[in-house]
Amino acid sequence: MSSTHARIGIIGAGFVGAAVASLLGDESRQAALLDASTVPMEVAGIAVRDVTRERPELAAHWWRGSVNELLTRDLDVLVEVAGDPDVMALVVDSALRSGMSVVTANKALMARHGTQLAQTAHAAGVDLFYEASVAGGIPIIRALRTSLAGERVSRLMGIVNGTTNFILSTMTQSGSDYQSALADAQRLGYAEADPTADVEGFDAAAKLVILSSLAFGTAMDGLSISTSGITTIRDGDIRFVSKMGYVIKLIAVAQRVGENRLARYVGPTLVPASHPLAAINGAMNAVMVEGDKSGPLVWSGRGAGGEPTATAVLGDVIEAVRNKAAGRHDVPFSVDPSIELMATAEVSSRFYLSLDVFDRPGVLAQVANVFGEFGISIQSMEQVGVGDEAQLFFITHEATTAAIDHTMASLAHLAAVGRVGCCLRLLATEESP
Ligand code: NDP
Ligand code: HSE
Repeated sequence: MSSTHARIGIIGAGFVGAAVASLLGDESRQAALLDASTVPMEVAGIAVRDVTRERPELAAHWWRGSVNELLTRDLDVLVEVAGDPDVMALVVDSALRSGMSVVTANKALMARHGTQLAQTAHAAGVDLFYEASVAGGIPIIRALRTSLAGERVSRLMGIVNGTTNFILSTMTQSGSDYQSALADAQRLGYAEADPTADVEGFDAAAKLVILSSLAFGTAMDGLSISTSGITTIRDGDIRFVSKMGYVIKLIAVAQRVGENRLARYVGPTLVPASHPLAAINGAMNAVMVEGDKSGPLVWSGRGAGGEPTATAVLGDVIEAVRNKAAGRHDVPFSVDPSIELMATAEVSSRFYLSLDVFDRPGVLAQVANVFGEFGISIQSMEQVGVGDEAQLFFITHEATTAAIDHTMASLAHLAAVGRVGCCLRLLATEESP
């Protein structure tokens, strides 16, 4: 430790950074913080992009400046809550090499550079912690790293993006439109700086890279996950699936297939209304882990927003300080070279599809023909007429992703099809494998 106090530097004073600083500076928590960390902690400075902006949310006595200046301030722990993964990869790498422990909430950073940064941290004898990078305030990283370290996980799945869960549940429950639900999610501090990362599923994919690394031993070295977002879902889809007993949730799945193969994907998914994940609404997140011996386990809680995320950051800071004071650091996670990532085209599910067609004789037969051509069997179908047009909704029996992709592409070429709507997986549950 550099002095009698553990010196904490923070990069970022947005929704998360301001909440972290406020927790660290909260007088009423100092005794409890000292008990937990074993060494008094102090905010040694906060780096932001725009150093000229007034920031009434930060205590006036806290030093503020650029990232480069902050790194020279004799820090014990650097908290990175800025975003900007490529810039922060260099900053975090340099901080670790110079002996600082690092705590980050940056999933994009960890998903792309986590394996390499963890090795750097280990070589430097410091900690790299990232509890807040997945599911905000839910302590799922530590649960996988410690409590489940000896378990063989067969499937991990979850609602790990608060913004999309907030949008989908608002659209389902209050009939609100997509744009206003997204604007609310941004105002409440749930969305990424560029919300495309949320609504197209990239944020959830980054979190799945992190979770699958801990549960299955895959590397954190890029976003190689098949991803689809929520932008094609319309009111009609929500109404139809609800009538069929489902809700739509953006779900991230990593599932062992056979001994060593792993299927990973992110996308809006039909979840039976009776399933535990169906009850997770608003910006809440939930992660379900199915272990060979543990059986199913579920964690749920506030998955986005400054304060819940800051509690996860604070827990990491405390552990990093305690470790430093004791002269130890955490062991890095290992990568299992025997795990083979499956091509998504091979992954089978039941699917839901919606189409807008011109309401003419013979159209249904043409559409059914295309399904037949690619060997896809229809389990149920409904037609809703709207003037000269009709919306068709289908639920299929199990099919491969490749067969569904070919079917969708072929349907888009039919003259009678005005629009191919969305194509969503159905969650495989014990009742419907
Ligand atoms: P905000 O956009 O609210 O805040 C980002 C902060 O980082 C701002 O203060 C910004 O400075 C600063 N910053 C950005 N780039 C730089 C840079 N290159 N150098 C110095 N400062 C920089 O983001 P959030 O607080 O919402 O999120 C921060 C991180 O936490 C992200 O990685 C996000 O993915 C992650 N996260 C967010 C959650 C949430 O619910 N919001 C939950 C879990 C994780 P300035 O103010 O000058 O613009
Ligand atoms: N934008 C992210 C979300 C923040 O909505 O879940 C939490 O990681």
